[in-house]
Amino acid sequence: MPKPSVLFVCLGNICRSPLAEAAFRAEAKRIGLDIEIDSAGTGGWHAGEPPDRRAIATAKRHGVDISGYKARKVTAADFRRFTHIIALDFENLADLQRLAPRDGTAELSLLLDHVPGREGEAVSDPWYGALPDFEVTWADVTAAAKALAAKLKAEA
Ligand code: 4NP
Repeated sequence: MPKPSVLFVCLGNICRSPLAEAAFRAEAKRIGLDIEIDSAGTGGWHAGEPPDRRAIATAKRHGVDISGYKARKVTAADFRRFTHIIALDFENLADLQRLAPRDGTAELSLLLDHVPGREGEAVSDPWYGALPDFEVTWADVTAAAKALAAKLKAEA
């Protein structure tokens, strides 16, 4: 089995997927899971920018510094480079299915499908919301990070 690698994908790569990346990095480190982790957006409007200041503040409140992250757009090569590409919502998943090249090997899934009892749920976009909405995002991505890291550790 290849070493697992996970790419989290949302729309802008400045709110939800950087928080998913941060929560998963922390959880993988906590349980000793050796894995490559990154995040990207299906859209490129914010490429090169740091995460949204509300996402940075939320991660900071939970002890993680994401101010150095840089947004990027998902590429065709990502579908060969990562074993798992994980969408934050349904639209992101549909876009990934459309963008996947023929020779892509990554397994596509919805983030909350990895959380028992929350299959088929989307992580809501907090972009038009306020800080409490980012706390909901953090809770969602943290639950998923725990479940996903445990699953990948068990498979390793
Ligand atoms: P994200 O949030 O997909 O969680 O990073 C958004 C960020 C930017 C935009 C939409 C959603 N935007 O329209 O620019």
